[in-house]
Order: sequence, then structure tokens, then C-alpha cells
Amino acid sequence: MIEKLLTAPHPFANTAGKDAVPVLLLDSKALKAQKTGTMETARIKDTGFTARPGTILPIYNNRGHIVKILAGIASPIGIYDLASVADAITRAIAPANLKARVFTLETELKGDALETACLGWALASYRYDFYKKDAATPARLLWPKGVDKKRVLAMFEGIVALRNLVNTPANDMGPDELEDAARLLAKRFEAKIAVVKGKPLESGFPLIHAVGISSPRAPRLIDLQWGNAKHPKLTLVGKGVCFDTGGLNLKPGAFMLQMKKDMGGSAHALGVALAIMALKLPVRLRVLIPAVENSVSGTSFRPRDVYNSRKGLTVETSDTDAEGRLVLADALTLACEEKPDLVLDCATLTGSARAALGYDIPAVFSNNEKLAQDLSATALGVQDPLWPLPLWQGYKKELASDIADLNNIGTSPAGAITAALFLEHFIEPSTPWVHIDMYAWEQTGKPGRPRGGADTGMRAVVKFLEDRYLK
Ligand code: BES
Ligand code: ZN
Ligand code: ZN
Repeated sequence: MIEKLLTAPHPFANTAGKDAVPVLLLDSKALKAQKTGTMETARIKDTGFTARPGTILPIYNNRGHIVKILAGIASPIGIYDLASVADAITRAIAPANLKARVFTLETELKGDALETACLGWALASYRYDFYKKDAATPARLLWPKGVDKKRVLAMFEGIVALRNLVNTPANDMGPDELEDAARLLAKRFEAKIAVVKGKPLESGFPLIHAVGISSPRAPRLIDLQWGNAKHPKLTLVGKGVCFDTGGLNLKPGAFMLQMKKDMGGSAHALGVALAIMALKLPVRLRVLIPAVENSVSGTSFRPRDVYNSRKGLTVETSDTDAEGRLVLADALTLACEEKPDLVLDCATLTGSARAALGYDIPAVFSNNEKLAQDLSATALGVQDPLWPLPLWQGYKKELASDIADLNNIGTSPAGAITAALFLEHFIEPSTPWVHIDMYAWEQTGKPGRPRGGADTGMRAVVKFLEDRYLK
């Protein structure tokens, strides 16, 4: 079960065969520059093809066979341009013919742009269909000359693993299965893994224990480590709430509906980790995942309970639906204990971040303004937007509690900010820290990005880390 979630069958071919169909990539400028008097220009004129990004125009020979496909792309190429192209091709050509053929790219794109083209094409083939009987046939692409296959596949495999983990229903993706996924990844890349459960969890990570003990599926802290101890220490922390009922502050049905995705932060951490390890980035990578189910039972933590934390700060849990920050708090404390070069956490933490930025733009917070600015600039560059929100110290007093050191909820509508400020209490001020509050879900769906579990910031983070550690 878990093995196949972390396997990404890609649509690339190493040889083309004699029935290969060339796909000529054209932006609007290149369309105008087409030589006149050819079969292509006649078809362009007849159909009014404008090379709008993602659209295709098949060219037929005089026996009616498709011999070439013109495909529109933006300049610079959009990440989902070739996803739309591949998707249009799969709808225009019968599955049996798709099986027999390989498509080849005719393009002058190179470097990052060519990787973007290949990744876009590959993402069109993504489908979460483990519970379905019918299978889809993807359009296969010949690896274009000069493309860095390793980088394309590292990103593709990371994204597929991330989406599969989020899409898997909570009955098949509990703390056990999330641990299995981390173990499998550790095995694949020869990383070390340790898991803290039971009594040691209760004493060492009281908040993770308090949240997770409501469920018969035991809470735990997953700790994966990889790479050379001499390299800079990079620690990723991912919220691994396998299902968030809200706890005793039970969510209404419509809000609970999506909550299998509440381990989306941990899926991002694992997706990024997969890419980093595949690319052999010179870092000592650590991935920390507090894996719990926020459930309802006689052992549930209650509104206004008080718990100690790993850090020693006592926390009043005024709302049991604000559980993500609790489990992250103990994991972030552990992360900072070894004074890493960077701590980056990913979490589906607040509805408030969605109210501010919508589904597609995760909010970024940092105790170092330049880090947040650099990350969002990188994010825009790779068309995977992230936007900074302020870690506004003025709202910190909202987290005051009458009877404990800290309350787990604020009082104003700035919920994403007060959640980030809550986390900041558990960060060493000298440790550079980035917090990403994300959605991890695609609401509408488009080619290359079907409705369901989605990467929201993974590509941005991988590029940011490459830029930080490869130079
Ligand atoms: N997992 C949710 C946040 C969430 C909800 C993310 C919907 C994406 C979509 C989180 O645990 C939560 O319930 N947060 C509450 C906190 C509140 C009770 C202070 C929220 O944001 O409403
Ligand atoms: Zn919640
Ligand atoms: Zn949650």
C-alpha cells in the first residue's frame, strides 16, 4: 500500500520509435514567425490557431493521420502549459494509439525552461486512482536532448508522493501509515529514522501526546536524519494531523470534510525531503513529523486543560481545534535544540491564512524578514507563489492565559498571525526559522493539478534550498 504511494510512474521514454509525433512548441511570437506556404501555416490560417498557452493544433497528412502537433506556450513557459498540451493530446488521440506512440518536443527551450516543460508534461499524467478500476493512458514524451533528467524526476517524484499521501483517505493514512511512508523513504535514501511513542512521548513531548491520545491510533514523533553531519543542518518540520475532527471543539461537517489533508504539511516535508535526497543537496537533513489523529473520545484533551510542553512553557488549550500549533510546538522545540542552520515548518495550520490569501498562496512567516522575502521571490520565479505575512509582535498579548504561560488561541481575526506567534514561543531566537501556513489542496482542478491533494509551495521550497545550499 505505502510503497505504491511513494512510486511515481513517469511518462518519459528513452527512445522514440518510428511512429513518433513531433510537438512543435510555439509562443505567440514564434507563431507569427512561421514560414508561410506550408501545411502548418495553412492549418493555422484555417483554424485561427493563436498558440494560446496549452492549446494544440494537430496537423494531418493526406491520408488523415496526425503527423505533427503545434502547441501553444507562454513566454516564459508556464508550469502547467505542457500539462494542458499533454492533456489535450490524451483527449484527441485514442488510448490504443497513445500506447503505440511517443511524442517528441521541437523547441529551443533549454535549462530551467526545458525542465519546466518536462515537469508540466509529466504532471498531466498524475491521477490518484488506487481505489478505481479503470486506468488512464498517459501521453509519453521522449526525453528532450540536454534536459537534466535527475532534476525533473526528483521534483516529479516528490510532488507525486506528496499528493498521494494527502489524497489517501484517513482510514488508510493514520500515524502508522505516515510512519511507514517515512520509513520507506529513509530506506530508499539510506537515512536513519527514530520514532518516539508511548511513555517517552508523554514525558518528552507532552503536547503531541495530549493531542494524539484521544485516538486508538497512537501519537508519535517521527525523526528522520540523512546526510553528512559536517554539512549545514537543515530541519523540516511537518504538521502530521492525519485527521482533524476538531477534537471536543468538533468541526461542523462541511469543515471536517476536507480534514484528511491535515497531514499536508508533513506530506510537503516528505516531498521536499525526497527531492533534496534525490538531488544529494549538501545538507544534513532532518525531518520531524508529529503524527497524530485529533479525535474525540474519553481521553480527548479538553477546552481549558493545561499541559506542559517540551520547552517547559505551560499551555492552556482553550480550543481543541487549534491542535496543529500544539504538536508543532514540541517538534519545533526539539528542532532548535541542536541549533540548526535553518528550521522550516509546513502546516495546514489556519483557516485564517486562506481568508487572507486564498487556496493557492501559502502564507510565509519568519523571524528573519530577509528569509521570507527571499523565499517569496524564489517562489514567484518558479510559479509556485508564497506570500509573507507579518509576525506582528503587537498581537502577542492575545496569547496570554489567566492560569498558564500561554493560551493556544488568540482573540482577534488575525488567526494566521497569532498561530505563527504561538509557534515563535518555541523557537530559539538565534535559529533562522520559516513557517509556511498552507492549504495543500486543489479546489477546482486543471490539467497537471487535479482536484484533491496538491503541492502548495513544495517547488518553491526546493528551489530556495537549492539556491541556499548549492552556492
Ligand atoms: N486544520 C485546521 C486548519 C485548516 C482549516 C486549514 C481549514 C485549512 C482549511 C486547524 O487545525 C484549525 O482547525 N485551525 C483553527 C484554529 C482556531 C480554532 C483558532 C482555524 O484556523 O479555524
Ligand atoms: Zn484543528
Ligand atoms: Zn488541524
